[in-house]
Amino acid sequence: MSQFRLHINGEVRQVDVAPDTPLLWVLRDSLDLAGTKYGCGVGACGACTVHLNGVPTRSCMTPVATVGLKKVLTIEGLDAQARHPLQQAWVELDVPQCGYCQAGQIMTAAALLKENPKPSDADIDGAMSGNLCRCATYLRIRAGIHRAAE
Ligand code: FES
Repeated sequence: MSQFRLHINGEVRQVDVAPDTPLLWVLRDSLDLAGTKYGCGVGACGACTVHLNGVPTRSCMTPVATVGLKKVLTIEGLDAQARHPLQQAWVELDVPQCGYCQAGQIMTAAALLKENPKPSDADIDGAMSGNLCRCATYLRIRAGIHRAAE
């Protein structure tokens, strides 16, 4: 076990875990931030997506020892004051079906909108292609991103 100080959602949090523990499990098990989901554990589905210094990152493939001082943003910290426009659009358009992948979808979409506030369909499809949804809500996800960009 080793101690790590992590910058998570604007706060410094300390954890005592093995250095190779994936950030996903530190968030979920040590910090009670269970919005970030485990899907595949091998970087293939996007359910575990968080931002590291604004970059969408697979937390299942990120050993905690590699995080250092990078700012970690999870779905819980996406908008501390009010509902993020993506979350509002998700509600308005009833985007989720089972909902399991949606935190990862929203985190990837949030990074896209930061880079590209008015994405085209092609931009959205390109940015979101690594986030899988077994309920196939892809068209509603795309519509939700457009709504949030209005
Ligand atoms: Fe990390 Fe699937 S759980 S990419």
